[in-house]
Amino acid sequence: MKKSLKDISVKNKIVLVRVDFNVPIKDGVISDENRINAALPTIEYLVANDAKIVLFSHLGRIKSEDDKKSKSLEPIAKALQSKIKQPLVFIPETRGKKLEDAIKSLKPKEILIFENTRFEDVINNEVVKNESKNNPELGKYWASLGDVFVNDAFGTAHRAHASNVGIATNIKESCLGFLVEREVEMLTKGVQNPEKPFVAIIGGAKVSDKIAVIDNLLTKADKIIIGGGMAYTFLKAQGHKIGKSLCEEDKLELAKNYLSRSNGKIILPIDSANAEEFADVKPTYSGVDLPDDVMGLDIGPKSVELFESVLKGAKTVAWNGPMGVFEFKNFKNGTEKVCEAIASIKGAFTLIGGGDSAAAAIQMGFQNKFTHISTGGGASLEFMEGKKLPGIECISDK
Ligand code: 3PG
Repeated sequence: MKKSLKDISVKNKIVLVRVDFNVPIKDGVISDENRINAALPTIEYLVANDAKIVLFSHLGRIKSEDDKKSKSLEPIAKALQSKIKQPLVFIPETRGKKLEDAIKSLKPKEILIFENTRFEDVINNEVVKNESKNNPELGKYWASLGDVFVNDAFGTAHRAHASNVGIATNIKESCLGFLVEREVEMLTKGVQNPEKPFVAIIGGAKVSDKIAVIDNLLTKADKIIIGGGMAYTFLKAQGHKIGKSLCEEDKLELAKNYLSRSNGKIILPIDSANAEEFADVKPTYSGVDLPDDVMGLDIGPKSVELFESVLKGAKTVAWNGPMGVFEFKNFKNGTEKVCEAIASIKGAFTLIGGGDSAAAAIQMGFQNKFTHISTGGGASLEFMEGKKLPGIECISDK
């Protein structure tokens, strides 16, 4: 068992808290604040318990000095400020005297947030990846700024970076924050020890992203519904015509292998909503075989009915990946209907494994209808695959 925030004393201590505030942001406007909201319980607990709080996060990927212009954490600091009563100080640095002095002058209950940790990936125009490659000097330096490390960044737990693993291995005391603990509890309940019948729904564009999850689910789930772009690779593997749809040719053999091992567990779409080009146009519909000149962009209405019937009576449902191009209003029906179907199952444990499906559910106003919506994209996927996450492994045991 990993140490929990409640296992350690934080009073008057400088507590370094890694959060995942990697939120979708355009021109300073945040379109989904779920990750910020999810970090509040840990921050509020630290305030209530008289800690001196230092928050830090990455935002996006930094590959050039130019990237830094649009990836400052400042707008996120402002969004956080509007959600908490304490005044929040933003320091636009990732190291140096200004940051060190500001941290030293913190009083109990005060909160500071510093600049995007990935700014350390590019120094003076040179790509050095100090944060992303867990440079030992950087982890040690950040660890030296505080007394205790709290990892509350579940979304980043599948990365071994300086701001999680680097700090944890260079500081005396570390623990998990409440958000990470809840994620681990919910994902374990949903995928490792599910109440049966357990139905998994996997979608999204790429088979290669989800291979390992399907492999793991074949041993755990009663049914695995596959929709979205990746379904066409499976349909082709079964000998169906998929027109111009997305297909990962190099994954056809693997898809065949899964289908042959599935004992009827894998459920594929039986019809398709199509377009001639990748565009938000009025769909044409086909059965399981598509005409040569179209590509499938969503599951069709008969597939929706089939998937709804498979979901009926499920006690656990784990959903990861949309059923079609839900950003297009003409091709969001499958994702919307499946989301609605899961949300309306009575008494079931329902889990969304982050990423696009979480965004879809939130956008459609279903966020309160699920038992748990993970803040992790890649992290929740890797957890569901049964992998150990380095951002959790590095934390002290109880
Ligand atoms: C995520 O959004 O999955 C995490 O914040 C990690 O971001 P990354 O994929 O850029 O490492």
